[in-house]
Amino acid sequence: MNFIVTDRDAASVRTDYEIRFVIDDDIEASGDKEILTLMGFEKGSVCDLPNSRRLYVSIKDTAPETLRIAISKVIKALGNHNIKSIKVPRISSPASSVGGTTTAIQEIEAALSAIAESFVLSSYSFDEYKKESKPCNIEEVYVSVTGCDRVSAEAALKRGKVIAEATNFVRDIVNEVPQVYTPERMAADAQKLAETYYSVKCETKGKDYLKEQNMNAFLAVNQAGPHEPQLIHLTYQPRGDSEKVICFVGKGLTYDSGGLSLKPSNSMYTMKSDKSGAAAAMGIIKAAAELELPYEIHAVLGATENMVGSGAYKPDDVIRSRSGVSIEVNNTDAEGRLVLCDCLSWAQDEIKPDYLIDLATLTGACVVGLGDYTAGVIGNNYDFQVEFKKKAGLSGENYTVLEFNDHLRPLIDSKIADVRNSVPGGMGGALTAGLFLDKFIKDDYKDKWLHLDIAGPAFGSDAWGYNPAGGTGAGVRGCIYWMLNR
Ligand code: BES
Ligand code: ZN
Ligand code: ZN
Repeated sequence: MNFIVTDRDAASVRTDYEIRFVIDDDIEASGDKEILTLMGFEKGSVCDLPNSRRLYVSIKDTAPETLRIAISKVIKALGNHNIKSIKVPRISSPASSVGGTTTAIQEIEAALSAIAESFVLSSYSFDEYKKESKPCNIEEVYVSVTGCDRVSAEAALKRGKVIAEATNFVRDIVNEVPQVYTPERMAADAQKLAETYYSVKCETKGKDYLKEQNMNAFLAVNQAGPHEPQLIHLTYQPRGDSEKVICFVGKGLTYDSGGLSLKPSNSMYTMKSDKSGAAAAMGIIKAAAELELPYEIHAVLGATENMVGSGAYKPDDVIRSRSGVSIEVNNTDAEGRLVLCDCLSWAQDEIKPDYLIDLATLTGACVVGLGDYTAGVIGNNYDFQVEFKKKAGLSGENYTVLEFNDHLRPLIDSKIADVRNSVPGGMGGALTAGLFLDKFIKDDYKDKWLHLDIAGPAFGSDAWGYNPAGGTGAGVRGCIYWMLNR
């Protein structure tokens, strides 16, 4: 999909179709008042006028997220059409800001990025296994702008397109089926990123290395699966001096059956999505390389299956983790934290980052608490949590800060080991999972670490906004926006 900035008056650009925004239900200035009235056009509605090749969308304002949702409605409404080119309404600074000022220009750029993002995100579909697919045919999107020069406008559109394409790359990984998408396949995809971008390097390590490193918690989860576990390390090196070193650690369970604490079949279904954290970390590296971000960025992915078999790890096992902390396993379905704890301790020792952020579909409790559309932001540094929530939230992703308290801490105490991997009863499960991870965060890193529980937004049984049913690519846009706006 190409985004073209045109200097010409919108009326003189010929495209297959035209989008028109109506703020609220104010159709006076639309030029199609009569027909829109006849069609019962009202707040929140979309009206397709095929004869005049116009699609009207009611919006409440021109905030970036409003525009993303509006474009998703456009793509949905035009789903069956064979439209190749389309033009969007002229973008100018909102009435609330003074034209030409830095804020006004930033607002225009944010709007342009959002429009490009939503075109690319909303037209995504995963058709790998369908005989008939209905891809979106739009090839050219014409955009006209007032109050922002062409070079900046093109850069903003490009930025939006890159971020959305990285998100779609992650959606493809998450949607790919578990018999195909194994830990080895994840390692191969990571290698491919390094072959594609000169600024990205990749190292992958298997079982022998994990043994050498005493990553016994990670290894325990892998015990019953037929596939070699993979510790995957991607590094993006910026061209100039890097301002900061940022490390993303991703939970890469290519399948989570629950292990011997077997999931009921209706909860097991969709657990191919348990690799979403690792997939998001790969998408972040891809976007960072294309955007040439000024940070040294690492992605550390722990990839394995959690399966059943005679060699499986068991409830009652006690494992000595890489950091030396002993873990009593009381539930083999709380496996993500076991993979992550070893990866987090590896990342602190080997990478020594300024910021350490893990992404994981870690707990059902987080979904119960926050719903399907919101990720939890957990950690020890409240200011960092709030800053992340605010800046990542500019992407349109929803983040909520969840806070530890000292009464929760003893819940993960074990009678036989230093810590247990789950809390019977499960109350406060998103936070107690966070507290488990915190046991593996060294004092120097306490303030630098965030845990993002993306169990809700990473995968949807139904489409929502510009997210399709299935993998959404949650975490990519939030983390990139956080870095862009730091
Ligand atoms: N992968 C699941 C969490 C999950 C649940 C992700 C629903 C997406 C949707 C995780 O490994 C898990 O099973 N967690 C357990 C933890 C419990 C045993 C303490 C859970 O949430 O039930
Ligand atoms: Zn599990
Ligand atoms: Zn899991």
